[in-house]
Amino acid sequence: MHIETLLAHTGCLDDPETGAIVAPIHLSTTFHRNDDGTYPRGFIYSRDNNPTRNLFEQTLALIEGGEDCTSFSSGMAATHAIIQALAPGSHVIIPDDVYHGLTNLADNMFGNWGISFDRAKMTNLDDIAQRITPQTQLIWLETPSNPMLQIADIRSITQLAKKHGVYVVVDSTWTTPLLQKPLDLGADLVIHSVTKYLAGHSDVLGGAVVAKAHTPLSEAIRDIQKSCGAVMDPFSAWLTMRGMRSLSSRLKTQCQNAHAVAQFLAGHPLVEQVHYPGLSNHPGHSIAKLQMSHFGAMLSFQVIGKARRAFSVAAQTKIFQRATSLGGTESLIEHRASIEPESSQTPENLLRLSIGLEYVNDLLQDLDSALKD
Ligand SMILES: Cc1ncc(COP(=O)(O)O)c(C=O)c1O
Repeated sequence: MHIETLLAHTGCLDDPETGAIVAPIHLSTTFHRNDDGTYPRGFIYSRDNNPTRNLFEQTLALIEGGEDCTSFSSGMAATHAIIQALAPGSHVIIPDDVYHGLTNLADNMFGNWGISFDRAKMTNLDDIAQRITPQTQLIWLETPSNPMLQIADIRSITQLAKKHGVYVVVDSTWTTPLLQKPLDLGADLVIHSVTKYLAGHSDVLGGAVVAKAHTPLSEAIRDIQKSCGAVMDPFSAWLTMRGMRSLSSRLKTQCQNAHAVAQFLAGHPLVEQVHYPGLSNHPGHSIAKLQMSHFGAMLSFQVIGKARRAFSVAAQTKIFQRATSLGGTESLIEHRASIEPESSQTPENLLRLSIGLEYVNDLLQDLDSALKD
């Protein structure tokens, strides 16, 4: 079945008792036990296992092409579970341009867990290869990267990793399974901040990890989910499934809008540079074309001038809301360098855009008048 059909039916079932088309939310934290001590329906306690969470996990695993999915209370809880699943002494390679939550975790917490790490330029295979050590267990990819929209070649990197027995995880938050299928390109794990496009309405916090196959790493992630308890709650799982039903229409429009915004900004006299892999002069354009079905709805651009100028452009927009996060129906604009750690390499004149579902000419006009003000 096509992924768009699967998505349209997310969270739907033919409930034998009521005939309901949409699955109910199971809020119960505990479940009946038989007099012989067994749990014949498989549910014991909602931290371990919950019918609504299960349905979400099974659906996302199917859509990503994985054997297992574990869901969490946020994208960072999912990230944390992957790192915690590694044995102390492990070495991890992370991108030099990546969501700053991972940078913070690496800088401030990996050491406490006995995990060492190196940063690599994920657009350069030699740079990654040079950083692999006998202790390396995991390569972390985010493509397009945040906020510079760099493109990593998932297939080549997973081939390199396999030669060294190293796992590869891809953060697919920005692309969703509709735009990119890392497991089909050789990755072992996919992670999502469900908070963004999957839920899609800026009103759910959640995370998920999908494993291509049951491995010691995926089993360890499942153990951490159950034992540490940062699980996705049933209402968030239900809201996420509701969001996923309209993902393909939302994302199509958002991607079209983003492409138009990128082209408009690329021709604007007050813009220094636009970072969007859909532009033919983007250094990762040809790889993006191969591994993505569309170029996404996120982009960043550098204004001519310094941080003050970028702040003043963001201050003038009326339709673009000034806020962090992404993937909702409303367009957002954000000065990234000032929200990232001090070590951030993000240019001070860079603004990141999450493109929503508004009428595209309204978005173009809003940016044009903010730039001219
Ligand atoms: C690419 C990416 N990965 C992970 C996360 C973390 O997700 P959450 O905020 O749900 O913890 C974010 C959050 O912005 C993100 O943008």
